Amino acid sequence: MTKYRQPVRVAIVGAGGIANGSHMPAVQAQDGEATVVAVVDVDRGRATDFAARWNIPAAYDDVEQMLKEQRPDLAILCTPPVAHAEAITTCLDAGVWVWCEKPPTLSLAEYDAVAAHEREGGPYASYVFQHRFGSGARALREQIRTGGLGAPLVGVCHTLWYRDDAYFEVPWRGKWETEGGGPSMGHGIHQMDLMLSLMGEWTEVRAAMGTLARDVETEDVSMAMVRFANGAMVSMVNSLLSRVRPATCVSTSPRRRSSCPTSTATTTPTGRGPRHPTGPRPPPRSWERRSTTRPVRTPRSCACCCGRCAPGNAPRSVATTAAESWASSPPCTSRRRPDAPSHRTC
Ligand SMILES: NC(=O)c1ccc[n+]([C@@H]2O[C@H](COP(=O)([O-])OP(=O)(O)OC[C@H]3O[C@@H](n4cnc5c(N)ncnc54)[C@H](O)[C@@H]3O)[C@@H](O)[C@H]2O)c1
Repeated sequence: MTKYRQPVRVAIVGAGGIANGSHMPAVQAQDGEATVVAVVDVDRGRATDFAARWNIPAAYDDVEQMLKEQRPDLAILCTPPVAHAEAITTCLDAGVWVWCEKPPTLSLAEYDAVAAHEREGGPYASYVFQHRFGSGARALREQIRTGGLGAPLVGVCHTLWYRDDAYFEVPWRGKWETEGGGPSMGHGIHQMDLMLSLMGEWTEVRAAMGTLARDVETEDVSMAMVRFANGAMVSMVNSLLSRVRPATCVSTSPRRRSSCPTSTATTTPTGRGPRHPTGPRPPPRSWERRSTTRPVRTPRSCACCCGRCAPGNAPRSVATTAAESWASSPPCTSRRRPDAPSHRTC
């Protein structure tokens, strides 16, 4: 990796959630190769608090003034989407490179206008699409590149996330003018970007969207069928209405359960559960139910090991049993096989 003689001088613009939660820790992890010299927020108090919290020498409420006085090498833009375009162009025009949060801009026209401010050799603006770079994404990209999976013909790109009403109380969310869209623009954008980076150019999109449950201007669900230049077809769903239960570890491997990094967590602020916390086994989630569905021939096949299940209780399938049991019955108190996927009330 290139070692800079001087640390890259970074300015943070927008001192909110993502700047605090992700960008500051990321800059600090650069082993002295980057240092934050200033923070800007339209809310001056927020900028000052942020500076105090992260030991940043200067706080501003105006981007141009900060650029003039601090001359940073890089601006990390963490403002709401509506403010991206203006901040990007201001920084590029001042000769400052830009690392901007998603979505880049509110429209393609706005994106083209912003890109016109880039110059050959820099400065350029780049955008945060971290899902492209996870280990799973990289492994899949390599498999596609080497032909290990054969031709990619069918894809599923489903962002089934959950955000409650309170999430939309932040004034800029859920409005066309300030967020530019709903989950298509703000959430599924990550997975759609990943899919495009894997599958190449798209040629056809048939899509629909709806506002089904949240009090927002934008959509809260969108769906599309996308055809790619290589002939592949992909189903895309972006939803913020897809609540999942706080999950507990579903692995039957003691090693995996004991090494689960999220073992103490129970749920996340987003309402999504961690994948492998320890604790009692939960009812299977929908995808698990599908994957564990199998015919059960006799009551002996019931996954519960209490030995007292009446023949009439014999499940049609493990999946059905799990769903019914957890929905309507108190839990079985008898000793259970630790790997039992479900049990019925005895
Ligand atoms: N990559 C990801 O996974 C990810 C996750 C969350 C948010 N984001 C993106 O990060 C951006 C910020 O989200 P957030 O959750 O931190 O929002 P936030 O509301 O918590 O913070 C935004 C901050 O920007 C300030 N601000 C508003 N307009 C400004 C302007 N013109 N100049 C300077 N400051 C301004 C606000 O006062 C606020 O402090 C959004 O674009 C969002 O889509 C990305």
